[in-house]
Order: sequence, then C-alpha cells, then structure tokens
Amino acid sequence: SQRELILAFESSCDETSVAVVQDGTQILSNIIATQIHSHQRFGGVVPEVASRHHVEQITECTDLALQEAGVTYADLTAVAVTYGPGLVGSLLIGVTAAKTLAFAHGLPLIPVNHMAGHIYAARFVAPLTYPLLALVVSGGHTELVVMRAAGEYEIIGDTRDDAAGEAYDKIGRVLGVPYPAGKTVDEMAHAGHDTFDFPRAMHDSDDLDFSFSGLKSAFINTVHHADQIGETLDRNDLAASFQAAVIDQLVGKTLIALRQHPVAQLVLAGGVAANRGLKAALEAALAREFPETTLLVPPVRLTGDNAAMIGAAAHIELAHQHFADATLNAVPGLNF
Ligand code: KG4
Ligand code: ZN
Repeated sequence: SQRELILAFESSCDETSVAVVQDGTQILSNIIATQIHSHQRFGGVVPEVASRHHVEQITECTDLALQEAGVTYADLTAVAVTYGPGLVGSLLIGVTAAKTLAFAHGLPLIPVNHMAGHIYAARFVAPLTYPLLALVVSGGHTELVVMRAAGEYEIIGDTRDDAAGEAYDKIGRVLGVPYPAGKTVDEMAHAGHDTFDFPRAMHDSDDLDFSFSGLKSAFINTVHHADQIGETLDRNDLAASFQAAVIDQLVGKTLIALRQHPVAQLVLAGGVAANRGLKAALEAALAREFPETTLLVPPVRLTGDNAAMIGAAAHIELAHQHFADATLNAVPGLNF
C-alpha cells in the first residue's frame, strides 16, 4: 500500500505499549498498559515484577493496537522497538516480541532509542525543524540534546546525579505521595508558595550539567528537622519550594544552552514535560529572551512512556535504512 505503517513497541520501564503510526505523523492506535499499581506498594519499579507484567500484557496490547488501527500484518511497512535505555528484563520483552513478529511476517525491524522517542513525541505537535534543542526530563534522564538534523543527537548537558523525575519521586515519598509522585507534587506545588528557599544547584556555573541530589538532601533534612522538633510544615509550600528550585535549574541551564546554540525550536520532552509550572516558566523565559524560538511540548498523554513516540522516531530511522537483524539485543545503558 502507499501508506507507511509502523507497528511500534515500548517496554523499557513500567508501561507496556504498542502503537500503529502512519508516515511518522499520525497515530492510528497507541495502547498503553500501565503497571503503576503493582509497583506502588514498593515505592518504585521492581524490575522482576515489571518484566513479568510485560510478558502478560504484550500480546493483548499488540492485538488491540492492530485492531484499533484497523490494519493487519500484511498492511505493515516495518516493526519498531525500544532497545534501550531502560530495564534489561523489561526491554527484552519488547525486543523479543518485535523480533519474532518482524521475522514471522517478513518485515524490517527498526531499533529505536527510548530518548529519541521522547523527543519525537513532539512530531505529533508540529513538523520538527533543525537544528533544534531538546530538554528531555524523565524518571531516568535529564538531558539537553542538540539535533542538527533528523536522527542526529548530541548530548550537551546531563545530570550528574538524580534525574528530575527521580527527584520528584524521592521527595514525594517523604511527603507520603505514592509513586510516581511527579503529577501529585506538581498539583500540590500549585496550591502552595515558594517559602523554603531551597538551594539552586550549579546556578552560577556556565556548564550545562544538572544536579538534583543537593536539593533532595536539603528537602529531606528540612522535613526531618521539623519532625524532630515537633513542627508541622505546610506540605504544599514544601512542594512549591521544591518545584521552584527544579524549574529554576531546568530553565536556567536551558537558557545557557540556547545562548550557545540558537535554534528555532525548543522541544520539552519526557514524563516531567507534563509539569505545568515547567512549561509556563519555559514559555515566559523564551518570550523574554528568545522570542524567535518556539516551545514544542507533546500533549500529556504523549509525554510519558508510549509506543507512538517510538513509531515517530522509527520513521526517521526507516528513511535512513537503519535496520536490525535477529541479533538485536536490549542495551540497558544505551546512549545516543
Ligand atoms: O518519561 P517517563 O514516563 O518515564 C521514564 O522514561 O522515566 O517519566 C516518568 C517520570 C516520573 O518520575 C514522574 O514522577 C514524572 O515523570 N512526572 C512528573 C509529572 N508527571 C510525571 N514530574 C513532574 N511533574 C509532573 N506533572
Ligand atoms: Zn521514558
């Protein structure tokens, strides 16, 4: 057929997702089975549990994705899959499913980097123009990425310790917020005020690296100290103060990056891109300092892990004929 149809798989962490994406721009289906409830009582993702869930979910998600898109294997152009970074046991389920289906149906297999997927979620908002800068903020990563062309990635800033989402999840635990805490802490922050003046890490340095462990420690110490002297702190104000410090750092470093790499598009991607305060702060900063730069943020249902974004990134890899064979393996520490 004339349509380019990619069946995409994503299973790098705790979401099993299968999508059908047309021409890299149109989502025909995007099935997402989340396992959050199974991990919540442990306060984080348990790799063994995650892997088992992926095995149980992936066949049904695949059937649903094809059904909802109204296509069969005979209509497909290629099969794409996240092969890293992520949890090895989780990645392997998607990789094995994709390999098996690709070879059973004689379809090319496209390996996709999960972080590239997060960036290409923005393709569903508008065509991407290069060079672009991406701020990718998730539970596992916090990176500034320059793309000089489609499918070309250069990391110019990275976290030295925790990822931004990870910091949200860790301080969320101290506040008694269930995993993953980001969304709830974001809501609490909007109901509170920045009264605690938490440290703004590396604010003066001109490099582009992030650090959240100092902020996390300051937060935990503040709460523990109050506990010890029997003082009750306002949880919303704590959340607001934490969020203000995170946003200050993310926006500050992004502005330094933009001064070094002027671009027409800034992509905000990854699970933390759902943060309303972050989006608003970036928009305001761009309006002030880089009015020529447009902020692209995927809709909330595409900022978290999903297979549609993998299909969008795979479209670029397909154009470059970047295929894998049956030896494709999961690469948990995959970099660009
Ligand atoms: O990209 P993602 O779904 O998974 C990874 O690849 O890690 O990101 C999940 C992370 C979690 O740490 C979650 O707490 C955070 O994104 N998150 C948020 C918000 N929504 C999700 N963090 C801050 N504000 C939010 N609204
Ligand atoms: Zn992710």
